[in-house]
Amino acid sequence: MDRSNKPSAIGVGASIPQPTVNFHDNKVQATLPTGESVTVHLYGATVTSWKLANGKEQLFVSEKAHLDGSKPIRGGIPVVFPVFGPPPSNHATSSLPQHGFARNSNWEFLGKSSSESLGKDRKEGDDAVKLDFGLSHPMLSEEFQKAWPYQFGLVYSVTLTKEGLETSLQVQNKGEQNFEFQVLLHTYLSVEDISQVRVKNLQSKEYADKTQGGAVQTEASSAVEIDKETDRVYKSLDPKVPIEVTTVSDDKPLFSVTREALTDVVVWNPWIEKAKGMADFGPDEAYKNMICVEAGSVAGWQTLEAGESWEGGQTIRPRL
Ligand code: BG6
Repeated sequence: MDRSNKPSAIGVGASIPQPTVNFHDNKVQATLPTGESVTVHLYGATVTSWKLANGKEQLFVSEKAHLDGSKPIRGGIPVVFPVFGPPPSNHATSSLPQHGFARNSNWEFLGKSSSESLGKDRKEGDDAVKLDFGLSHPMLSEEFQKAWPYQFGLVYSVTLTKEGLETSLQVQNKGEQNFEFQVLLHTYLSVEDISQVRVKNLQSKEYADKTQGGAVQTEASSAVEIDKETDRVYKSLDPKVPIEVTTVSDDKPLFSVTREALTDVVVWNPWIEKAKGMADFGPDEAYKNMICVEAGSVAGWQTLEAGESWEGGQTIRPRL
């Protein structure tokens, strides 16, 4: 008997659940069949949520964060480009706001790729979903276009797997003039109690201490404790060596951050007074529930020649 519809004739892949991707209210939400999820607001292409299969949120977002596009989002992973911090006077970025324009511009959703198209040999429960976002010069506000007149293209890719979250940025110079840029993935990690975590793999590295006017120091500690306002730019790190946020109780990583082409890392916590002073930071005590570990290229400038492109990114592995 010809039974062309017998079960074995149905493609094996057809029965494997797929990641779901929804796009509404100017945000994209993706969920793996195993339950992990990520949310990205088009405003700033800011990742505003990353949850594990057990529902546990991994990113800190302030309760007072503006999610309506009126201000950069206070939390998640804002993208800092093309300048980090207050722009220097006498530089091409000097008319831009602090941290540039990428975090306060509307990006476009370019689409999703799933495990198959990412070239993975997919088995059940072995999923990945990649979301791509784009920003280019004509999409900027008139004010930003004037302030930074370079023809650039950014493609920001957010990849969610069971093992972690990867965010990477490609910068293209589509114009005829070279330009200089800095870039930083301003990641707000969620922690239960800042006094119970340490930051590892920074020992003997040089950093600029922004709480001391940028004074250059050498990190003495193998396990950095955050017990006051902390704003440090660690330079020239090996991107393959993970920056680990560990818990004191068991000395194990809560987060482990490896980088590609991003050799600097900023460690930031505003602590009590600065937290109170930020209108979009809340509640006041929430400084205890966050630590920013920001992978970037910010100590100097990347020069991108006409027609060239550059790519860098981070992979964050959570405690599973
Ligand atoms: C960090 C900087 O990356 O961002 C800090 O090192 C700064 O100096 C912090 O205070 C937050 O910046 P903003 O512009 O989001 O308030």
